[in-house]
Amino acid sequence: MNYAIETTDLRKSFGDTHAVDGISLSVAKGSVFGLLGPNGAGKTTTVRLLATLLAPTGGSARVLGHDLLTEPAAIRSKVSLTGQFASVDEDLTGTENLVLLSRLLGHSWRGAKQRAAELLAAFDLAEAAGRQVRTYSGGMRRRLDIAASLIVTPEILFLDEPTTGLDPRSRNQVWDMVRDIAAIGTTVLLTTQYLEEADQLADRLAVIDHGRVIAAGTSRELKASVGSGTLKIHLQDAAQRAAAETLLTSLIGGQVQSTTEGLSVQVADTAKAMQVLHALNDSGIAVAEFSLGSPSLDEVFFALTGKPQQNEVAA
Ligand SMILES: Nc1ncnc2c1ncn2[C@@H]1O[C@H](COP(=O)(O)OP(=O)(O)OP(=O)(O)O)[C@@H](O)[C@H]1O
Ligand SMILES: [Mg+2]
Repeated sequence: MNYAIETTDLRKSFGDTHAVDGISLSVAKGSVFGLLGPNGAGKTTTVRLLATLLAPTGGSARVLGHDLLTEPAAIRSKVSLTGQFASVDEDLTGTENLVLLSRLLGHSWRGAKQRAAELLAAFDLAEAAGRQVRTYSGGMRRRLDIAASLIVTPEILFLDEPTTGLDPRSRNQVWDMVRDIAAIGTTVLLTTQYLEEADQLADRLAVIDHGRVIAAGTSRELKASVGSGTLKIHLQDAAQRAAAETLLTSLIGGQVQSTTEGLSVQVADTAKAMQVLHALNDSGIAVAEFSLGSPSLDEVFFALTGKPQQNEVAA
């Protein structure tokens, strides 16, 4: 068996809401798999289904060789989930949280204390170990949360948006942790709203929208289908937007996305980007600012669906 997770037409509806609407995917053992999608895409629901916290309303799945419907207990004993929102107790210290969870998982007092100390050290929380979690920063909480999922090394770790809301430094720390976890052979399925995160961590990824997979493959494959770079252009004179759009369309042959700041197009390489900027200049269209970077999830969505990603209104 080479797959840690295999789902076939997996579904979960809440009344009329088809949160997971027929998802089929395979996650290789020992790999990091990224589930990428905007708010309300069905990421959390998918993860909760696979971690046996929710029962599917249709389809099937095998997790570590066990059937999701008939052997949930066997799955539950081998997987761990770090939810989207912190699950640690604010009133307890870092050590107390981990010791409590270790005890619940059957460690002796001594074993629990030892495991807590190991994890706190590994997650750079040794200094804060004796402080109440309410005094922790967002990044520290997140690290403690992930540490809590690793008290017993799981065969699969589900991480639901591990870095949403973290600053770049904390995000990097979490990324390093995910790499360490993967390095010891644990299969990681993470959800994210950031293409860059999936790009950094995931061997393969699936983009989901409205409970369905709209694209899947390696990050490289996905980007190749989208264009390797996004050229964003901010015009000096907004009145020239239409002219710029026409020019870009004829040069690129692809879709030109209108953003609040200006225009954005997918370009194959820097040479193409230069060509675009020269052409604008030659046509007397003044560029106030431009940037060339990796496509964002928004741009991937635009390339895949031809429409901007529709974020659900934040609940
Ligand atoms: N318990 C529930 N009852 C009713 N509807 C639900 C429930 N859980 C999720 N939904 C709905 O299912 C859809 C998918 O939600 P889900 O939480 O899986 O999205 P998500 O991709 O995790 O989004 P986010 O990025 O905001 O966390 C949404 O429309 C949501 O409102
Ligand atoms: Mg979610």
